[in-house]
Amino acid sequence: MDRRRRRPAEALAALGLASLVLTAGATALAALGDAPLRAMLWVAPGADPARALGSVPTECLKRPADPALAARIEVGRAAFRTQVLLGGQAARAGINCETCHRDGRANPDFHFPGLSGPPGTADVTNSLFSTHRDNGIDDPKPIPDLSGAKARLKVDQDLAQRKLEPFIHGLITEEFDGPEPTPAVLDGLAAYVRALRPEACPAQAREPFTVALLMADARRALQAGQERIRAGDDASAVLMVASARSRLGLIDERFAAPALAAPRASLRAADRRLEAIQAVLHDHGPDAERQIAAWLAASPRLEAELAARQGLSLFDPARLAQAAKRRLPG
Ligand code: HEC
Repeated sequence: MDRRRRRPAEALAALGLASLVLTAGATALAALGDAPLRAMLWVAPGADPARALGSVPTECLKRPADPALAARIEVGRAAFRTQVLLGGQAARAGINCETCHRDGRANPDFHFPGLSGPPGTADVTNSLFSTHRDNGIDDPKPIPDLSGAKARLKVDQDLAQRKLEPFIHGLITEEFDGPEPTPAVLDGLAAYVRALRPEACPAQAREPFTVALLMADARRALQAGQERIRAGDDASAVLMVASARSRLGLIDERFAAPALAAPRASLRAADRRLEAIQAVLHDHGPDAERQIAAWLAASPRLEAELAARQGLSLFDPARLAQAAKRRLPG
């Protein structure tokens, strides 16, 4: 029998386990409130927290000489790193493209209850994320390394074929119930994925996850936002600012200890300034580009303040391991 043609409810009943698994997913989402780090919800039980939460793979991004293409790639790179691009449960859980494709690669430690089979897999056609694409069967697939050899990937990335753009469009609007992306964001995501190449992989496979790394991402996203403002594309610029705010959010959750109240307050003030810039962009008000420039100019001071206290935060491997022990089963 063709299992794919069954009604979702029927298939769930037939599988028996699936409803249990969906409940587990919902419970995991409900538990968002008490996890010190959201990422702890999707790290496989038994994974080494220093590796899974304290480090990231290095990015294999080939930066082109052509400044116009480089700018498009930066737009995609920022969009890849914000849950605001997606909708529904994924956005609520803080999941973005980069959660699964870490720095454009795979994620062998990913395990989301109700969505994953073995670690490193995900069922992107699950009703937890999508009301459009739920195929009613539990079919997790390995998360592909987007920086692997192009010939080994399923979707043809050849520019002339134009297969990648509709694929990513479907991912956003159907698999993840997200809003319609702007043309520049969709184009940027495809340009970013195309620019991920094995030959661009740095010699060192992983690097520590730090304040500096996240602040660099935030600055790049804001620079992409400035470029979009100059192009008269405020709608994409709003998403670029959202991406910067998502990166600040990842710093914020690691700075929750009472001893870190002062740097966290500075971080939150910086985030509120970005929120205000988003409001200006929404209203197509003037001056947003200059306000971003001012934010960027002040950002090294914020970064220094945060980096100075990083050792007391969950960026510190020992503190991270302790927090993970309290939180992670297995
Ligand atoms: C929940 C984890 C998850 C998230 C979030 C996610 N992906 Fe994926 N992605 C997967 C899995 C799993 C596959 C493989 C699906 C398959 O084999 O059918 C995949 C496949 C792909 C492919 C095709 C790779 C190939 O073989 O050609 C591309 C491109 C891609 N994702 C890009 C993205 C982009 C862009 C986003 C954000 C809009 C995103 N993904 C978000 C898990 C995820």
